[in-house]
Amino acid sequence: MTTRVSDSEAAPQRFAQLFSSTRRGARLARRLATHQLDLWGIPHGSELSDAVAHVVAELAANAVTHGHVAGRDFELRLVRTRPDTLRVEVADSRGDRRPEEQQGAPDAESGRGLLLVEALASAWGVTERAVGKTVWAELRHEGQSGRG
Ligand SMILES: Nc1ncnc2c1ncn2[C@@H]1O[C@H](COP(=O)(O)OP(=O)(O)O)[C@@H](O)[C@H]1O
Ligand SMILES: [Mg+2]
Repeated sequence: MTTRVSDSEAAPQRFAQLFSSTRRGARLARRLATHQLDLWGIPHGSELSDAVAHVVAELAANAVTHGHVAGRDFELRLVRTRPDTLRVEVADSRGDRRPEEQQGAPDAESGRGLLLVEALASAWGVTERAVGKTVWAELRHEGQSGRG
């Protein structure tokens, strides 16, 4: 039996959208992310869709609070690198501050966002941009029969 490389594997599916750097923009980013996944055949309410929704919500919230620069939008990008793997990228314009995992008390009300991202993502990180930075996270749907 041979393994064929399908078109979707050869060319990753991509989505990119700018949002206003506001709480409303962050909520919209989360909703459009799950909508886009649904269009790609990853249904609303599935494990991967829910995980992506959490990660987009946390990274977008961080972009509009910690990464906010007046008058600058943030950008959400989604890349479906494999049928079961999603890369989430959230770019903001603030270059002088970076995400840092907090070592605070477990009942602290802040400092949990990146812990959640860490738990849901197989990997995450930060890359520099000409202006600001991109925080990225990769999520894989575990337990799928496809080969890794
Ligand atoms: N996009 C960002 N730009 C600048 N700093 C960030 C960004 N995201 C996170 N941080 C920093 O990392 C810390 C931890 O983020 P997080 O775990 O989401 O906690 P919280 O947002 O509740 O403070 C933040 O308090 C902030 O100092
Ligand atoms: Mg946060």
